Amino acid sequence: MTEFTTRRQLFADTLLNNSIAIFPSNQELTRSNDTEFRFRQNSDFYYLCGFNEPDACLVLIKKEECVKTILFNRKKDKTAEIWHGYRLGQEAAITELQIDDAFPIDDFEVQLSQLLTDIENIYYPVLSGLSLDQRLQNVLTSLRNKSRSGLITANQFLNWQPQLHEMRLFKSSAEQDLMRKAGEISALGHVRAMQRCKPGMLEFQLELEIEYEFAKQGTRDVAYSSIVAGGNNACILHYTENDKPLQNGDLVLIDAGAEYQGYAGDITRTFPVNGRFSEEQAIIYQLVLDCQLLAIENVKPGISVLGINKLVVRKMCEGLLNLGIMKGDLETLISEEKYKSFYMHGLGHFIGLDVHDVGEAGTIDNPRLLEAGMAITIEPGIYISHDADVEDRWKGIGVRIEDDILITTTGHEVLTSAVPKTIKDIETLMQHG
Ligand code: GLY
Ligand code: MN
Ligand code: MN
Repeated sequence: MTEFTTRRQLFADTLLNNSIAIFPSNQELTRSNDTEFRFRQNSDFYYLCGFNEPDACLVLIKKEECVKTILFNRKKDKTAEIWHGYRLGQEAAITELQIDDAFPIDDFEVQLSQLLTDIENIYYPVLSGLSLDQRLQNVLTSLRNKSRSGLITANQFLNWQPQLHEMRLFKSSAEQDLMRKAGEISALGHVRAMQRCKPGMLEFQLELEIEYEFAKQGTRDVAYSSIVAGGNNACILHYTENDKPLQNGDLVLIDAGAEYQGYAGDITRTFPVNGRFSEEQAIIYQLVLDCQLLAIENVKPGISVLGINKLVVRKMCEGLLNLGIMKGDLETLISEEKYKSFYMHGLGHFIGLDVHDVGEAGTIDNPRLLEAGMAITIEPGIYISHDADVEDRWKGIGVRIEDDILITTTGHEVLTSAVPKTIKDIETLMQHG
């Protein structure tokens, strides 16, 4: 809780005086008729209070340099709790979440109208599709209609996202511990997949081996839908059908990560379904691995992911040229981005409460430089699909290797190193367990 109160205080320091900042939670999403998807909290809301129920809203009020934290959440309700589960309610919220006050979410309009008295600035990301958009608009419209009585003084809307997301970009030491754990658990899931994989299994059967290991390690959720892609399916970047049989002689690409206390792991490993790389598979795999190791070696404060990607692209193009998979002049292939037929995504992204976390890569001329406390993925890949214009022997080979990296003052720490990635280590693990 100290972590959350500190975050609220630091965030409030960025607010103008006489302001209100409004952070809606997520709502439950219907899957079909009477069934819902498993609930996932809004990351910004969670970051500021750690409360994990739907239908809630956190409000920070800063007046005369004094900050008040108020929560709107669901009322205790015996019948609803018998049917649908426990609710914290208002009284317990005040003590457990260390906030100043709590009101039932049903009273949002009435209470918020009062809280807006003497407020000059409303911090809320307008038009961002948050759950309380409509109800907030109703409150403001109704206050404006009464404005002759001088009730509303707010004169500007500001967006809280820039300053909050800048905070989220830098992981505190408590967050770093959670990310280490997310990385470790994710790695164990991939180890199990390597140990259990057999020709003839369906891709989703292997998917559940990984997710079973996540559960055994104490975490229930995946950070995103797992990708388990055999053979040519690996060339579909966001393949999540996962319903085809794994073929003897093919590679399988698995991109899966556990979510631990809200924090994402994001690992990709590619390995042979039968435990042994063919000659061509090994050649492409080693090239991707060399690119990934080169990238990781360069991760440190002061450099950008876009800058590191330039090194990766050069190495990859040299390799693909040597193999005859790309043809022509190296500099032209790079400047005309011909490699994008085989490597069509970025090198990595920020990671944290969201797998694709807040924070922008910037542009190649004005990139975001890495700083200690940030966390990123490094995930180069080469995808040679069946319809590529190359010799047949390369076709159907898709390889990506992805790890999660914390930037430290002196360089970096790989959070997901517990799953093997050299050809030798993968083959040994698959053959001898
Ligand atoms: N798993 C999503 C990604 O690697 O970006
Ligand atoms: Mn991934
Ligand atoms: Mn990723």
